[in-house]
Amino acid sequence: MSNRTFTMIKPDATSKGYTGAILDQIIKAGYSVKAMKWTKLTIEQAGLFYDIHRERPFFGDLVKFMSSGPIVAAILEKENAVEDFRTLIGATNPANAAEGTIRKNFAASIGENAVHGSDSDENAQIEGDFFFSKLERF
Ligand code: CMP
Repeated sequence: MSNRTFTMIKPDATSKGYTGAILDQIIKAGYSVKAMKWTKLTIEQAGLFYDIHRERPFFGDLVKFMSSGPIVAAILEKENAVEDFRTLIGATNPANAAEGTIRKNFAASIGENAVHGSDSDENAQIEGDFFFSKLERF
């Protein structure tokens, strides 16, 4: 069990003005921010980040969407961070997300689902390293 996870607030949520409300829900759930940036991915960078999904039928739509507008990337800390954060954000498809979860509150569809959360400690490390240098985290 690690105490850090990685998240992105995705372009659908930033463009609808949900960034502050999502961060508020994350902070109120007990996470502290260890690194954060507001940025925009190129289609190539989105492809590298989601390389594991390259052969999936939705890959093209995913990288187009993820490079369509600004995102917020962050490293978050809390006990049991990866597992608890996935509970906090809810199911990948917001139609299946539990009441009160971030995706239930803010997401519209499986493709445009407001937030990303790492699925393992290993990927949390890899994904945080993708966005942040040692100087940008504490
Ligand atoms: P995320 O948790 O960021 O990781 C991979 C993303 O791919 C996922 O959120 C969804 O937004 C997207 N995704 C997964 N399955 C589908 C699908 N069937 N159709 C479109 N997008 C998908």
